[in-house]
This record gives sequence, C-alpha cells and structure tokens, in this order.
Amino acid sequence: MKKIGLVTSGGDAPGMNAAIRAVVRVAYSHGLEVLGFERGWEGLLTNTFRRLTPRNVGGIVHLGGTILRTSRSPEFRKREGIQKAAETLSLNKVDGLVVIGGGGSLRGALELSGETTSLIVGVPATIDNDVFGTDETIGFDSAVNTAITEIDKIRDTANSHDRVFIVEVMGRKRGFLALTIGLTAGAEIILVPEVEYSLDQIVRTLEKNGAKGKKSGIIVAAEGIGDTRKLLNEIEEKAGVEVRLSVTGYAQRGGNPTARSRLLANLFGNKAVELLHNKQGNRMVALQEGKITSIDLEQVCSKEKQLDLSLMKLAQTLAT
Ligand code: F6P
Repeated sequence: MKKIGLVTSGGDAPGMNAAIRAVVRVAYSHGLEVLGFERGWEGLLTNTFRRLTPRNVGGIVHLGGTILRTSRSPEFRKREGIQKAAETLSLNKVDGLVVIGGGGSLRGALELSGETTSLIVGVPATIDNDVFGTDETIGFDSAVNTAITEIDKIRDTANSHDRVFIVEVMGRKRGFLALTIGLTAGAEIILVPEVEYSLDQIVRTLEKNGAKGKKSGIIVAAEGIGDTRKLLNEIEEKAGVEVRLSVTGYAQRGGNPTARSRLLANLFGNKAVELLHNKQGNRMVALQEGKITSIDLEQVCSKEKQLDLSLMKLAQTLAT
C-alpha cells in the first residue's frame, strides 16, 4: 500500500473536514500518499483530484462542510459510471480508497469495490445517523445541537404567546434526528416516520397539557412524516390552538462540528487508514457500544438500522 484516495460524497455533514485531516495525517504517518477526489464521485468520474498533505489539511478541523466539496452523482448510480471510477483508481495507482459519506455513498462504495482491485473502506458521515452497523455517524451530534439551540429559542416565543410550534427537522425517511432532538429539547410531542401518529392523540395531548396550565408546546416532526403545513392546519382546527411551523432546514447540515463529531471523525479516520494499512477492504468503520470497530460493507448496505422506540416512551414520560 503506497497511495490512497479520499472522497466525500452525498450530503455534507459537520466533521467531514476533521475526518479528511485525520485520514491524511494518519496516512502520512504510515508513509502513504493521499489523493483527494473533488466533488464526490464526480471527481472519480472526471479524474479530478488534488494531492493532500499534512500541511494543506491544516486549519480545517473546526470547519463545517467539506474542503473536497461533494455532490449527488446520478452517473455513478449506473454500472458504466462505476467502471469509469474504477479506471480512475487504476490510472492513478490508488491502492485504497476512503469513502466518507452516508447510506447512498456507502452503497456506491460497495458497488465500486466489486469493480476494482483497490481496497475500499467506508466512513459513515451523515447528519441523519441512519447507517446500519454504527451507533453514530459523523455530523449527527452537530446537527442535533444546531436544532436544539434553535428550539430553545423557539420555546421563548412559544411561551410568550401561548402557542404550539411544529419544528420540522431533517432525517430523510428516518426519525433518528427527530427523536434525539425531541428528547434533548424536551419536546411535548415527537413525530417520526417509524411510528404512525394520530391527529386525535396529538390533540388529546395538547388538551391534557392545556388543562395542566401548559399552554404552549413543541412538536418535533421528522421531515419524513409528510406535510407538516397540513398537519398544522389540522391541529389548529381540531384543538383550537394557535400553531406555527418552523423548518430547521439546511442550517442543520452546516456550522462548526461539535467536539463529539470531531472526536468521532478523528477516531474513524484513524481506523480507516489502519484497515487499509493492514490490507483490509470492503469494510466500514463503526462505533459499536463505545468502541471503534469495523463491519462488512455488504452487511451495512443490506440491513436497516432500527430506531430505539424505548426512547420515544422516555420522551413521553419526560414531557409530562
Ligand atoms: O442526508 C442528509 C440530508 O440532509 C437529509 O436529511 C435530507 O433529506 C437530504 O439530505 C437533503 O438532500 P439534498 O442535499 O440533496 O437536498
């Protein structure tokens, strides 16, 4: 192993830069050269890269986004695209590739590993935390913190006006972000795609809270539950309370990574290079029960991570 490649792909996540820095610096400590492919898979399709050195990845550990930039590449979803990427790896004599990204990128990594002799290692990085095999992904904690900082502020105005707020958070089709955000922000109600909700139940909870003197409330809704504007109208009509909608949106994807996201990025980056250095490919680095480990990429891509429903119950108990 002499030369490795590095790519960040899919939606960016705070901590990706810390992971880039860690991969490069650990790689150099093992005498490995690093090529950083630009704009996600596009860089591999167009052979666009820059040499990364311990010096030129300085001053980025605290920055959100990714210095390599990223993209969602439709061409890479086709077999020809994957073959083109494999040719780029062989043209540049890249012995191993570190793919930093979420579910889609890791699936791409698995497919690419079937077409190339380069060893492929995935590093899970997405604010959604929806990757099987790892308890946490890079960026998740940062996005949770961004959202709860906003909700803390929303609560002030909700209390002042006796209003109910629906706060819509990201997470694609899954509720990992919404659940952790709702629990840690003390939301009165949490709505996730994994658990069917009923309007009657929401109204009953708001009425019960109102009777106890709790006139305002926060409903954290995952974007995956559907139309939150429609839900707002339904609640206003049925519960007779004033409801406002606040969509946290893309702010969750940016900003400085938290210490926890940076730590995970450093540990994952280190483990990814260690795997390649030991000639192990087709794996994803992972956090399992507090330990840094790795898991077969195929398993990552064929299984679905489960939401811990006991936390939903706890959130309900705590929101009384
Ligand atoms: O996967 C991260 C994420 O931010 C999701 O939470 C969201 O649904 C999606 O990306 C948005 O995708 P795009 O960046 O392509 O608009």
